[in-house]
Amino acid sequence: MPPTSTSSVLQQIQPTIFRFTKMLASVLQLDVEIVDADMVRISGTGPFAKLIGKKLNGNSRLLSHVLKEKEEKVVIQSRVDQLCEDCRDKGSCKEKAFIGVPIMVQQVCVGVISLVALTPEQQLRIKENAHEISEYVRYISHIFVSKIIGGQNAGDDLGEVFTSLIENMDQGVLVLDENEQVRSINPVALKQLNCTPEKILGRMVNIRPRPYQQDAASGYLQHIVTFADRREIIIGQMHRRQNYQLFLMAFHQPHPAIPDEQAASDPRIGHIIGESRPMRVLKALLTRVATSPSSVLIVSESGTGKEVVARAIHELSGRSNQPFVAINCAAIPEALQESELFGYLKGAFTGASTAGKVGLIQSANGGTLFLDEIGDMSLGMQAKLLRTIENREVQPIGASKPVPVDIRIIAATHQKLEQFIAERKFREDLFYRINVIPLTIPPLREREGDIELLAHYFINLHSNRIGGVYPGISPEVVKLLPQYHWPGNVRELSNLMEYLVNVVPSGDIIDESLLPPNITNGLRPRAAGGTEKVFESIRACDAGTSITMIESMERQMIEEALSRHKNKKLAADELGIGVATLYRKINKYSANPA
Ligand SMILES: Nc1ncnc2c1ncn2[C@@H]1O[C@H](COP(=O)(O)OP(=O)(O)OP(=O)(O)O)[C@@H](O)[C@H]1O
Ligand SMILES: [Mg+2]
Repeated sequence: MPPTSTSSVLQQIQPTIFRFTKMLASVLQLDVEIVDADMVRISGTGPFAKLIGKKLNGNSRLLSHVLKEKEEKVVIQSRVDQLCEDCRDKGSCKEKAFIGVPIMVQQVCVGVISLVALTPEQQLRIKENAHEISEYVRYISHIFVSKIIGGQNAGDDLGEVFTSLIENMDQGVLVLDENEQVRSINPVALKQLNCTPEKILGRMVNIRPRPYQQDAASGYLQHIVTFADRREIIIGQMHRRQNYQLFLMAFHQPHPAIPDEQAASDPRIGHIIGESRPMRVLKALLTRVATSPSSVLIVSESGTGKEVVARAIHELSGRSNQPFVAINCAAIPEALQESELFGYLKGAFTGASTAGKVGLIQSANGGTLFLDEIGDMSLGMQAKLLRTIENREVQPIGASKPVPVDIRIIAATHQKLEQFIAERKFREDLFYRINVIPLTIPPLREREGDIELLAHYFINLHSNRIGGVYPGISPEVVKLLPQYHWPGNVRELSNLMEYLVNVVPSGDIIDESLLPPNITNGLRPRAAGGTEKVFESIRACDAGTSITMIESMERQMIEEALSRHKNKKLAADELGIGVATLYRKINKYSANPA
């Protein structure tokens, strides 16, 4: 449907803005609200996800202020700010801190992006990094919004221009349709493949990346191109557009023989990306234990890949043709757990469906039951589950006798179950029943080399998903990523790459300027770093270090730097921060002397 003339430019691209909002909130770990120039809420996360498309009432003073002034507004402590003074909602306002940044497109303010702190941790994050965050958001919103608005206006009659461009390009171009048949190939590609048009046009060609052999520096990947009886290694980039695959070929890599990776690494485990030592050990262990009927307990930090590993075990087991049923024990309300897990007969209780219901455990019969977040299961359910595991049977509610089940159990948790046992939150007997094969997945920061590998893997995955161009990634970014501590593990890395793929300007590569401040501020000190790196690590702030201790270290470093340099710029340079930040910190510490 064509946009109506009354809808704002941001309203017209609302779904894209919504996606952007969610990603921005996830990488900055703050809630986000976006309004257009008419104060219509275009998108939001958390409490701001409601009332999308509605005009906000006159009490959104901070947002109105940014719109009017076209200037960023930072509020470290909401409610005490002048703008909040006679606000009607002051008493009930949950916002602790706020950063509002105007979205400028060709000098016109088309809306506001606001970042809101609702928890004390988020408030501290805004307080510590307000300047960096607002600068960063202004920059990112500018490229993202201009890219989208610019993209909308691009004409559709460029087909001919592109065809002639491709013919004359000095890079090889190969276009495949949805059946992997060659639709077009340019002269350079023919030369690189040492082939003639008759031999390849309309023929099937298979192109697949070799994820472990990629050239990390350029973002290009080695691909194995298979056609007729030939297999070639081509360094290039794959772009997917609608049903077409467009392969841009950088160069052909001579090779003696291409090792068959399918044989070397089982494809059923191939989607667990990781070649670091601990991951190789884990993968070898998985293949060994997969065929056993014994229960497995996976314990690891959040986002490390527990579900990925559980699914791989299922795929490698003799049960792979049978169901894999995943139950998130933390997500099912306690009152529903019994009926969901064990099912019920018709008329078992008031409100029960007349048809009855097969429980999730029974629906896994013959296959694998994945009990995710088992640490969050109530003690009552633990007792019932224990009976199921011991006797391999379930008793649906209202049934007079149990039903036998044949299931392989894989349980997972990020909790310390031994501690839960000591606190009587987890049954010891159940623990021993499920912990027959214990598996731990290492946190991402301990997988040397895998961060780069996963970064490329996710860039490829997400750019294919959004049907966009595969962007390169600068060597600096590739070098920086392993220095961050990745508290959210693989999921956090995946989210970041998805976000970067979305915000990178078309035709550009992902460089340092696109990295959000919490990633760059959270870098660990490099071995050969000077004071700046120490300063950075202070800002990274170990979870265990108290804020006062960090502040006193920071204060001491600032004093020392100022005693060495009269010039504030030089002092700021030595500390690795901007002059504005240095002034802000000097003000802060002189207002509250030690
Ligand atoms: N080794 C890996 N290779 C490829 N993708 C991975 C890998 N590990 C994790 N992922 C991806 O990262 C995300 C998180 O993985 P998963 O859900 O399995 O983690 P989890 O440990 O179960 O997290 P949580 O404790 O938060 O539930 C998923 O999108 C998954 O596909
Ligand atoms: Mg999980």
